[in-house]
Amino acid sequence: MLSTESKLKSLYGHRYSIRRRENSDSRALFELFKQPLCQQGMICDAFASPAHFQSWIDNAGSDKLDIVATCETAVIGYAGIFSGRENRGHVGSLSLFVHDEFHSRGIGGLLMRGILAVADARPHLRRIELFVICDNHRAIDLYRRFGFEIEGRHDCFARRKHNFVDVYSMSRIAKSGGDC
Ligand SMILES: CC(C)(COP(=O)(O)OP(=O)(O)OC[C@H]1O[C@@H](n2cnc3c(N)ncnc32)[C@H](O)[C@@H]1OP(=O)(O)O)[C@@H](O)C(=O)NCCC(=O)NCCS
Repeated sequence: MLSTESKLKSLYGHRYSIRRRENSDSRALFELFKQPLCQQGMICDAFASPAHFQSWIDNAGSDKLDIVATCETAVIGYAGIFSGRENRGHVGSLSLFVHDEFHSRGIGGLLMRGILAVADARPHLRRIELFVICDNHRAIDLYRRFGFEIEGRHDCFARRKHNFVDVYSMSRIAKSGGDC
């Protein structure tokens, strides 16, 4: 079976790749998070400006892991894992977004593969967790393919425009890792 990277290369050439996020990506990421489908999948409040995103990311801790997907030079996707503190230092919280114009091309899979490879190289990160809106079937399907399981349903968890939304909590426990 072809890897996601090989499938992408055969379908779209060598245009898509992943790299570490840089501060100079903030404007492109702000524009990405503003996309309607990205907004629909978001549980937290939208960012007001590139500077707002930059300050949020600066405050997310120095041990965060984050990468972007690019199409030639344009930033078209983002994946981040944010570590918990103290007695939740073994837990990472996952965030994943692909620009609306690039959905269903395997880029979410490419980002998942990349960010989980980085996380798995940090044996203290035993648990990766996330919240996903229950109607976000594309995301749920993708997370399941990467070993995440639904742990619970949280009704009226957040507000999206004028409605409350229900979310699932999902997690993936590393098969091996450091002691507690
Ligand atoms: C969820 C998201 C990251 C997935 O990214 P993507 O690049 O579209 O993902 P991929 O193309 O790698 O994989 C999507 C898979 O879902 C499948 N899929 C598409 N629509 C689907 C649907 N309605 N239900 C179930 N599966 C679906 C596709 O067939 C594809 O599988 P395949 O690779 O076997 O063809 C992207 O849609 C996104 O950014 N959405 C908006 C933001 C968001 O909701 N983020 C998640 C917050 S928890």
